[in-house]
Amino acid sequence: MSVIGLQAFGSMAGDSNTAKTASSRRHFDRWSAGYERDKAVLCTTSFHHSPDPKRAVAEMARVLVPGGRIVIADMVADRVIMRAFDRILRHTQRSHVGCQRSGDLVRLLRAGGFSQPTRRPLLRGFFAIVAARRADSTSDA
Ligand SMILES: C[S@@+](CC[C@H](N)C(=O)[O-])C[C@H]1O[C@@H](n2cnc3c(N)ncnc32)[C@H](O)[C@@H]1O
Repeated sequence: MSVIGLQAFGSMAGDSNTAKTASSRRHFDRWSAGYERDKAVLCTTSFHHSPDPKRAVAEMARVLVPGGRIVIADMVADRVIMRAFDRILRHTQRSHVGCQRSGDLVRLLRAGGFSQPTRRPLLRGFFAIVAARRADSTSDA
């Protein structure tokens, strides 16, 4: 088994918002060039930095083999208190784009060609692990 860890540099540092968005887009649009066709993608505590969640999911689908597993573990905006915290983070952390609700993560994965989604809340619902498999075709998602 090989494990590839990717670290996006720069986007959490203090560039202007425009530079941050351009940088974020670049990372999430093509974050695994050279390591294509993997069996699993694990995205931990990072998805809330994606300025274009649909595109990020499409990129994860692109690099997975059919049946490959995607796991997104992140803070989620399911609870009112977390939505307030999310708003604060958007103003205080330049790379923070926004937390998803866990149900929206499931919908994003389904729409992006993933099937058999599971959703597991953690830390009293502040965090969730959402997992799915890349469908062979979008028709069985
Ligand atoms: C809270 S840290 C989590 C790090 C690691 N994944 C973990 O679980 O320990 C958030 C990570 O998101 C990365 N990040 C920030 N903006 C990003 C972007 N636009 N695209 C990809 N990664 C990004 C940061 O570099 C940072 O490593």
